[in-house]
Amino acid sequence: MAGEDLARTRERVAARLVGRERELELVLAAVAAGRDIVLEGPPGVGKTTMLQAITEEWGIPLVLVEGNADLTPAKLIGHHNPARVLQEGYDADNFVPGPLVQAMRDGGFLYIEEFNRAPDDVINTLLTAMAERRIAVPRVGVVQARPTFRVIASMNPYDNVGTTRLSTSVHDRLNRLAIGYQDAAAERGVVALRTGASGPLEDRLADDAVAVTRATREHPDVRQGSSVRGAIDLVLVARQLAALRGVRDPGDDAYPALVHDAMVVALSGRIHLDEAAEATPEQVLKEIWEDHFLLRPSAAAPG
Ligand SMILES: Nc1ncnc2c1ncn2[C@@H]1O[C@H](COP(=O)(O)OP(=O)(O)O)[C@@H](O)[C@H]1O
Ligand SMILES: [Mg+2]
Repeated sequence: MAGEDLARTRERVAARLVGRERELELVLAAVAAGRDIVLEGPPGVGKTTMLQAITEEWGIPLVLVEGNADLTPAKLIGHHNPARVLQEGYDADNFVPGPLVQAMRDGGFLYIEEFNRAPDDVINTLLTAMAERRIAVPRVGVVQARPTFRVIASMNPYDNVGTTRLSTSVHDRLNRLAIGYQDAAAERGVVALRTGASGPLEDRLADDAVAVTRATREHPDVRQGSSVRGAIDLVLVARQLAALRGVRDPGDDAYPALVHDAMVVALSGRIHLDEAAEATPEQVLKEIWEDHFLLRPSAAAPG
């Protein structure tokens, strides 16, 4: 792709994201170079959003597949429709393409989340498709990938359950970019974009939601805290609670308790405690809430 076109893609995609200029530029450079890449980072950092924006901009499909222990090369490649095989016998016509063949044929991005959770044979199938850009499908023939076919994989560095340790020879075949959490201002922008928060009550809710969500990542008992998804839901839930309880102003006495209740709903399932921790998610959230509203009263003052 010509440099000018790529720069234009970058501008258009950037307009759909909050921040992430550097990550976007690096991912674009990798895929424009014809390379496949692993995005390493926790959930909720905008990986899918970025890939969706890039593929939509280019008018190519984004084919999603979740890497887990049940994934097999056959599921990835596709299968023959058994009912039709009975009638017609094996035929290229009654082949139902799996995500890999679909992405290769259509020139899309195959986005495999939790790549490191996939079994070895699945990883090998992908590596072969990446290296050769074609795949032999029994009774169908050779599927040649269109030039825009890419494999994008994601891995969560905090994920140490059920993962295959990838061999160095796998790593040697892949490009990689680590994508971490954004800063508070950017997360505040994401929350505003996704919730449409406006007005004094919702502005304050968005600020508080981002602050307490970020605090879940710092708490000593937490192995992995909540992404900005938790902050988005916190605002959406709190907005409804505020309407139910008739809270219209962040200075209202009922405001802090409202945030606490919304935190329980939006965050308790999103924080993963250390094995050794004795606290419950609710207790951790209560601590974070107290720290935010009671120990730092300036945070509770309007404005
Ligand atoms: N930089 C960003 N710009 C716009 N929205 C974002 C950004 N980062 C995260 N989001 C939003 O946060 C949520 C999670 O993002 P997502 O792309 O699904 O994360 P991931 O794929 O890394 O798990 C989505 O609602 C998404 O729209
Ligand atoms: Mg995702």
